[in-house]
Amino acid sequence: PLVYLNGEFLPLDQARVSVLDRGFLFGDGVYEVIPVYGGRPLRLEEHLRRLDDSLRGIRMTSPLMRSEWSEIIGRLIDGVDDQSVYVQVTRGVGPARDHSIPVGVRPTVFAMASPITPVPVTGVRAITLEDIRWRWCNIKAITLLPNVLLRQQAVDRGCAEAVLVREGHVTEGTASNVFAVVGGTIVTPPKGPELLPGITRDLVLELVRAEGLPARERAISLEEFSGAEEIWITSSTREVLPVVELDGRPVGRGSPGPVWERVSALYQDFKRRLK
Ligand code: PDD
Repeated sequence: PLVYLNGEFLPLDQARVSVLDRGFLFGDGVYEVIPVYGGRPLRLEEHLRRLDDSLRGIRMTSPLMRSEWSEIIGRLIDGVDDQSVYVQVTRGVGPARDHSIPVGVRPTVFAMASPITPVPVTGVRAITLEDIRWRWCNIKAITLLPNVLLRQQAVDRGCAEAVLVREGHVTEGTASNVFAVVGGTIVTPPKGPELLPGITRDLVLELVRAEGLPARERAISLEEFSGAEEIWITSSTREVLPVVELDGRPVGRGSPGPVWERVSALYQDFKRRLK
């Protein structure tokens, strides 16, 4: 399978970037992860729009047109197995290591397809940690050191995700958005600079509202979250994943809940109907 780099399709081991690339030196870039089912990308337009938003957030404009992105992504999709397409744009190769943004450099554009590993339907364990990240979490930046270190703390404790807490309220996971069921209502934190506007999050809200299930976007305190009937995390690679244990205590009955069962079925159905 080939990868895309700066206008070319080439084998992965032949894709090379300069050590002066600002992505390498400063983490100066943004990315997207687009899930693909049966050879068809899920919500491609929304992912490309968010990529534009992220680029604008770091004072860049899209180096390619929508049609060019679609064409590249279409060519990277390999067969009909479930996969994800990773797209990364960095500011490019500067003349030297200098924090200031250089003028007139060409962005580095990279994209590749990878297999998706099936998500565990029995649920996962999670911990809560203080959200130590910066305040522009709505930008899907490649600068992921806080996310990496926080996720590893979860992994070290046998957990699949760390749910982050800022000033007493949950924001999101290290690589996912969060939902809870509180008093029978589905709740998720509102969009803003503290979290990534997840494409899966939006889709889940859309699906549950179309079913007439009560859903609200509102702040969730850690206390409320810890006592929720159900907790799920959502992302392009993990879909809607139930959290059955939080900070060592069972969530609800300690197994995936009835609301998750319904939402997951809606999500799987949406995947099957993609075209
Ligand atoms: N991450 N929040 C963060 C911090 C994320 O990194 C992600 C996704 C999400 C969920 O967004 P979406 O539903 O659009 O995938 C929320 C991707 C999958 C990653 O970094 O691999």
